[in-house]
Amino acid sequence: MIKEIKAGELNTEKFIHEKVEMIRSAVGDGTAINALSGGVDSSVVTMLGHRALGDKLKTYFIQNGLMRESEPDRVRELFRKLEVPVEIIDASKEFLYALRGIKDPEEKREAITQTFYKDVFRRLVRESRAKHLLQGTILTDVDETVAGVKRQHNVFEQLGIDPQKEFGYRIIEPLIQLRKDGVRKVGSALGLPPELFDRIPFPGPALAARIIGEVTEERLETVRRATTIVENKLKDTGAFQYMAILHEDRVTGMVDGRREFGQQIEIRCWDSLDARTATPTQLPFEMLTGLAAEIIRQIPGVVSVTYNITSKPPSTIEAV
Ligand code: XMP
Repeated sequence: MIKEIKAGELNTEKFIHEKVEMIRSAVGDGTAINALSGGVDSSVVTMLGHRALGDKLKTYFIQNGLMRESEPDRVRELFRKLEVPVEIIDASKEFLYALRGIKDPEEKREAITQTFYKDVFRRLVRESRAKHLLQGTILTDVDETVAGVKRQHNVFEQLGIDPQKEFGYRIIEPLIQLRKDGVRKVGSALGLPPELFDRIPFPGPALAARIIGEVTEERLETVRRATTIVENKLKDTGAFQYMAILHEDRVTGMVDGRREFGQQIEIRCWDSLDARTATPTQLPFEMLTGLAAEIIRQIPGVVSVTYNITSKPPSTIEAV
């Protein structure tokens, strides 16, 4: 049973001190690796890990081909300013290959999990001779996986999987007692710039969580472009999270006076505290129609844009 630390009860200085000690004693005189995705959780873990281990922690950014536009360089640059060196590893071909032909959401997550942990991390661990992987699992990830809502890609022990046996390295999870609001407080206390700890959450399976049906390079490009538009237009709304989702079903539309059986993008924008429950943000209608117009203008082949008005539950925040 993991003991939750609620954001309201969190003493960030004490938490940071305890976790730094915990990481140091777990790693001992060995080394550890850490995969930074630029999301809130992995950014906070990176700072915590560097405070604990300094040069004994090697931080990688895995380019899995599922990332948002310009993400690897942006993240590396932000961390360079914090004096944390980040090495970009291009593994996009491996991930796309593992995902080919898969439509089922849980199978997709599993393919990504296996590629990360069995292929990429295992290789990095072997090459760097590290024995530990530091990662930013939070309590919501564990809850949802155990409850069978979604298999979060980073949860093992609670499913009876021993990473040491399965993958050949140990996993250290310093944020596992926290939820997103607590993680943000720790990020702020660690001196992360707001553009890192105040970012909207982004899922581990990245844009693959936003594609219904098969993940292909072309479909990734469509959802990536829509994501850029939605994130730019909604960044000042104060919403908890917002996203573009590419549907599998096609619908009839009209382009240049001709019938086109085109693609559909769904926009979601959520108000939430900790992602356990959420309600759709009441965005001004002109903002929504403006978004639709921009998506249609910039992404050929899209003929329909919808807005999700369902709460979580029964909806979930991501579509996959
Ligand atoms: P759902 O879609 O389950 O999402 O309502 C709850 C929160 O978790 C994020 N999310 C993930 N984060 N790995 C992650 O690290 C995942 O597999 C994953 N799936 C969902 C989601 O963006 C939301 O903030």
